[in-house]
Amino acid sequence: MSRTTTAATPRGGDRIVAPGSSRLADGMAFLREFLSRPLAVASVAPSSVFLEQRVVQAAALSDARVVVELGPGTGGTTRALLRAMAPQARLLAIDLNPRFCERLRQRIADPRLVVQEGSAVDLALHLKHWQLSAPDVVVSGIPFSTLPVDAVQAVVASIKDCLAPEGRFVAYQLRAHVADYTEPHLGVPQVDWEWRNLPPMRVFRWVKPAA
Ligand SMILES: C[S@@+](CC[C@H](N)C(=O)[O-])C[C@H]1O[C@@H](n2cnc3c(N)ncnc32)[C@H](O)[C@@H]1O
Repeated sequence: MSRTTTAATPRGGDRIVAPGSSRLADGMAFLREFLSRPLAVASVAPSSVFLEQRVVQAAALSDARVVVELGPGTGGTTRALLRAMAPQARLLAIDLNPRFCERLRQRIADPRLVVQEGSAVDLALHLKHWQLSAPDVVVSGIPFSTLPVDAVQAVVASIKDCLAPEGRFVAYQLRAHVADYTEPHLGVPQVDWEWRNLPPMRVFRWVKPAA
């Protein structure tokens, strides 16, 4: 497993301390990583606030105790999730890109967040490593359409196995690739478009049946 670090402890009573976390700085960092790893990053810009809000709504986070984010990138979605989460909840953010992970650790100081450098394929291992129970919500921004088919199948099967009963899986994607692989496990999703994003994105939402 790759290197792990918790976020720093917040200061001054603020739950989230994010020095230098302007959208412009995040956008520049995101673009740099896109230019060096276009297939893994898959978008030229981070998600818009409109997409972040739509994802948060679909995730229904108020009662979630354990939340997983796959592909946090520069952390706009991560901050939006944290703002909507309960004080005692935990967020495990997993990203392949070491520079994104370091940036998240430096810029989001929230005791509820742990940042894991690694692949979504190893979701079960990461949850075990951090001693987290079955997640109530998994949110994914990873580009399913550019991953090898066996990796997509492994990620989707792992999400289905790891999710708590009645847990939500929310994926935001331009293409419908993720649905082809998830429908056999979790059924037909609810789908909404968010047009106020570059590019426009579909937000897919599945709910795992109760045990
Ligand atoms: C489209 S960006 C989304 C970034 C951010 N959530 C946002 O909305 O602005 C996709 C992210 O997925 C990460 N990623 C790609 N493949 C991954 C994998 N197999 N496991 C974990 N993260 C992955 C990339 O490094 C990148 O940060």
